Amino acid sequence: MEYINLKNSDLTVSRFCMGGCPMGGYGWGEVHEEDFIDAIHTALDLGVNFFDTADTYGLGQSEKTLSKGLGAERQKVIIQTKFGVRVQKGKGTLIDNSPAYLQKALENSLRRLNTDYIDIYVVHYWDQKTPPADFVNELEKQKHAGKIRYYGLSNARPEVLALCRPFIGQFVTCQHEFSLCCRQWEAEIRQTVDIMDVTPLTWGSLGQGILSGKYDENTTFGENDRRSRQIYTNFHGEKLKDNLRIVKELREVAANHEKSCAATAVRFIMDLFPMGVPIVGIKNAKQLRDIVSAQDWHLALREMTQLNRISHAGASTSKEMPWQKEI
Ligand SMILES: NC(=O)c1ccc[n+]([C@@H]2O[C@H](COP(=O)([O-])OP(=O)(O)OC[C@H]3O[C@@H](n4cnc5c(N)ncnc54)[C@H](OP(=O)(O)O)[C@@H]3O)[C@@H](O)[C@H]2O)c1
Repeated sequence: MEYINLKNSDLTVSRFCMGGCPMGGYGWGEVHEEDFIDAIHTALDLGVNFFDTADTYGLGQSEKTLSKGLGAERQKVIIQTKFGVRVQKGKGTLIDNSPAYLQKALENSLRRLNTDYIDIYVVHYWDQKTPPADFVNELEKQKHAGKIRYYGLSNARPEVLALCRPFIGQFVTCQHEFSLCCRQWEAEIRQTVDIMDVTPLTWGSLGQGILSGKYDENTTFGENDRRSRQIYTNFHGEKLKDNLRIVKELREVAANHEKSCAATAVRFIMDLFPMGVPIVGIKNAKQLRDIVSAQDWHLALREMTQLNRISHAGASTSKEMPWQKEI
């Protein structure tokens, strides 16, 4: 297992972060709690110590399942959870980074995670109205109170990155969607590294599963699978065709190393951002083991070039906000 020190912190994490969105149990087809628990135990056995979740994933269910799976091992791992996507019963969803909501959301996450502290507390999306100074000030208060150890950003656009410049050196991570089939936030990722001096994390590292190579043009998803919705562009129309072209070349490269397409897609991210950590959503121990097989080897320069070329030809460039996708 490869490990990395997160910037501006004393945290050492595995270069794979287990993504907890499927653990919410909502919108990922048929899933079973015992499979997630088994995957968490397997992760711990294999040296994975970094877990990503959010208060919105299954409206808190993901945090509860993570806590159940970790049990007494909680102290040994780094938990990253997020706040800011506020679901109001019958009133829809809004983004709220106000200090008052942060306090409430943090107490709820601590309770669900059955822990006294959160290692990295993440601003899920910026609400475009709370001045970053206000939430940073509140995050610092919670840090001093011992309820969080560090804090991070997520889906940060250039305007919020600019406003966060006075706080360079305070955030430890920033996560953006990035994969061979989604490069629309690449410039922002590089800004977070070069200017904000944080460790970059990627979500959607498998393009929600398309880069595993197991889907084709005839694939259909059930209603309880978010990927049936058009907003999950990776599985629809021209974008799906582009993605299948990427998968074709990915399969060739993967065969050179006797690895799966999924592991190779993850390795591509690790080699492109040697200072970064991919987050991958996991449904069971088999997927977990496969993703861990992306560790401790490298793609050759010519393979990086080949994948880079096909990826740039097919990756999306639109900049719509994806937050409606993931609750
Ligand atoms: N900050 C944010 O705003 C944000 C947004 C979204 C997600 N995230 C985080 O990032 C994580 C991952 O991103 P994502 O949810 O967009 O999905 P992703 O990691 O691109 O894809 C995950 C899906 O790929 C499939 N898969 C995983 N490993 C596999 C393997 N080894 N072989 C074959 N298939 C495999 C699984 O679905 P199937 O088996 O059903 O195909 C899994 O649910 C989330 O869980 C969450 O923690 C953060």
